[in-house]
Amino acid sequence: MHPNPTYRTALDHPIFPLISQAASNLKMDSYVIGGYVRDFLLNRGDAKDIDIVAVGSGIALAKEVARLLPGKPKVSIFKTYGTAMLKVGAIELEFVGARKESYTEDSRNPAVENGTLEDDQNRRDFTINALALSLQKDTYGVLLDPFNGREDLEKKVIRTPLDPEITYSDDPLRMLRAIRFATQLDFTIEKASLDAITKNSDRIKIISEERIVDEIHKILLADQPSKGFTLLHKTGLLPYIFPELVALEGIEEKEGQRHKDNFWHTLEVVDNISKTTDDLWLRWAALLHDIGKAPTKRFDKKIGWTFHAHEFVGAKMVYKLFKRLKMPLNDKMKFVQKMVLMSSRPIVLASDVTDSAVRRLIFDAGDHVEDLMTLCEADITTKNPKKFNKYQNNFKLVRDKIEEVEARDHIRNFQPPVSGEEIMETFGLKPSREIGIIKDAIKEAILEGEIPNEYAAARDYMLKKGAELNLTPVK
Ligand code: CTP
Repeated sequence: MHPNPTYRTALDHPIFPLISQAASNLKMDSYVIGGYVRDFLLNRGDAKDIDIVAVGSGIALAKEVARLLPGKPKVSIFKTYGTAMLKVGAIELEFVGARKESYTEDSRNPAVENGTLEDDQNRRDFTINALALSLQKDTYGVLLDPFNGREDLEKKVIRTPLDPEITYSDDPLRMLRAIRFATQLDFTIEKASLDAITKNSDRIKIISEERIVDEIHKILLADQPSKGFTLLHKTGLLPYIFPELVALEGIEEKEGQRHKDNFWHTLEVVDNISKTTDDLWLRWAALLHDIGKAPTKRFDKKIGWTFHAHEFVGAKMVYKLFKRLKMPLNDKMKFVQKMVLMSSRPIVLASDVTDSAVRRLIFDAGDHVEDLMTLCEADITTKNPKKFNKYQNNFKLVRDKIEEVEARDHIRNFQPPVSGEEIMETFGLKPSREIGIIKDAIKEAILEGEIPNEYAAARDYMLKKGAELNLTPVK
């Protein structure tokens, strides 16, 4: 391998010669570094975040670049970190001065000292992220790769530039980043690194929940998220992040009866669903769909292992888990809760698919009925091909039935065919309990199939219910 190959095509975009010019005006050297170079060499599409390291002041370079750009865009400066950010169309440029000493998260006075390019590369997380391309006119596009990062890209290895103990203690989030990159890129983490992560796993405690969740999102969005969760498990990081998942691991046997290992099952479900959807929150739902199984597990002499009401308990745990991880407790959380709560409903239906049960399913799941079916299909992890086909076909029948019933009865975004206003006017009522009772009775009658989801039928039914409640129509 040539020691210093040149990649001019990586620097085709006109912003690069402009940065080069700006750096030359300030008589400093500058380099493109990190993810942009890595992703270029991996052919991973056009990265929109570009990191520039200046041997000198990153902030001064950012300002000079802005000065040369038409329209003189605004430079955002982060003084504490000595970095500056600039947006050029869809591109985000991040400028940093080359540093010598690494800083620690908990130190109030980050010991940042100016350094050379190589000093800066030393303090980066992985060899594949320490690759730099020169922006100097005479060496434009030359790769600077002191730790053989390019070879690691080819061998698909995650390795730290320095002793992994140093790299990870500089920023323990890197333990998660290693696992995230290994999952996203399908790379292997070098043994020394893996050992260091395992040894220092408890250091993840000092990292903010927000940064942890960012990495978890990225793991979940990979092609095969189980790879990341298996590594989290193997390195001992998982208990700090998801003790609820750890609690699902293991198989118990009583009186010759065994239940499945719900941890490994969950990971299979997450991989399955990742083949059919890129929706992050549906993938979260797959990850958490069985978390209620650990606290609800019982052995019953007659029926064997049961996890009674695990969906209900699981949905409550979703709230606590989101809260603990400082994730927003918004409609996304409610969606995950709903999926967990309803995760067994289509399975029950599959054995006896009646119109009324399907109407109730559509009513309860609303717009998320498709997602729920996707989750249930991913939940089939049996290794018995006969059973697998049987379950798949059952769900296919449920899906067909949902379509048929919805086309006829329009339950998905159910609007009461007779409004509360109309009930009040009809019987001359003030707001009262009776109105709720009648409204509910109409809804139930529709879901049960006693009456069609139509105005005339609903009005007749309202009159009938009113009579039962001794109400007389006034108009
Ligand atoms: N970096 C680091 N340690 C960290 C975070 C980042 O050394 N804890 C360095 C790496 O060199 C990395 C660069 O900063 O390449 C930019 O970080 P970031 O934008 O977070 O990651 P990328 O590598 O660009 O990858 P991605 O965009 O996929 O997160």
